[in-house]
Amino acid sequence: MSETGPLDEKEQARRRILVASTIGMGTVGLAATAIPFVASMEPSERAKAEAAPVDVDVTRVAPGTLITVNWRGRPVWVLHRTPQMLATLGKHDALLLDPDSQTDQQPKYARNATRSVRPAFLVVEAVCTHLGCIPVFRPEPGAADLGPDWPGGFYCPCHGSKYDLAGRVFRNVPAPVNLAVPPHAYHGERLVIGEEGPGVTT
Ligand code: FES
Repeated sequence: MSETGPLDEKEQARRRILVASTIGMGTVGLAATAIPFVASMEPSERAKAEAAPVDVDVTRVAPGTLITVNWRGRPVWVLHRTPQMLATLGKHDALLLDPDSQTDQQPKYARNATRSVRPAFLVVEAVCTHLGCIPVFRPEPGAADLGPDWPGGFYCPCHGSKYDLAGRVFRNVPAPVNLAVPPHAYHGERLVIGEEGPGVTT
């Protein structure tokens, strides 16, 4: 049987104070650690900027040339194809792995013969589908180092993959699929890379 004397009451009161102060310190500690955690869940300004669509004035891309823009940390080409460049498409389908773009490497509205919304402009990620190197723009048909069948396109110097001027991969190279076409749309002459939609708006 326990006895409760004046000394025990003092001891119990001391313990109650200790317990209360320990809980209080724990709450402060939890709050201190919770604030950075919540803050880390907010997307940084940089991440938001990188995820944002990118505008391109296509009138500034001269026929026969391309520009490279950065979208979501990846290089994207905007190639202004000339009528002569467009005429090469469709003449070498037998050399291509996926000439009809069966593999899901483009939005539905770019699953066509030119893999584009506007045939004059190819918008494609400049990332080789083998191991991610950046291919080189080689538009000259029949280039000596690429063979007499070369119709013009993109050549990856890392392991020799080849793509035509619609970003379609050739057979017998390491790359397994066509270059990826990102979502994009037009507002007049303003191309917006990263905008989801039917592809053509004015
Ligand atoms: S990364 Fe392009 S061929 Fe290997």
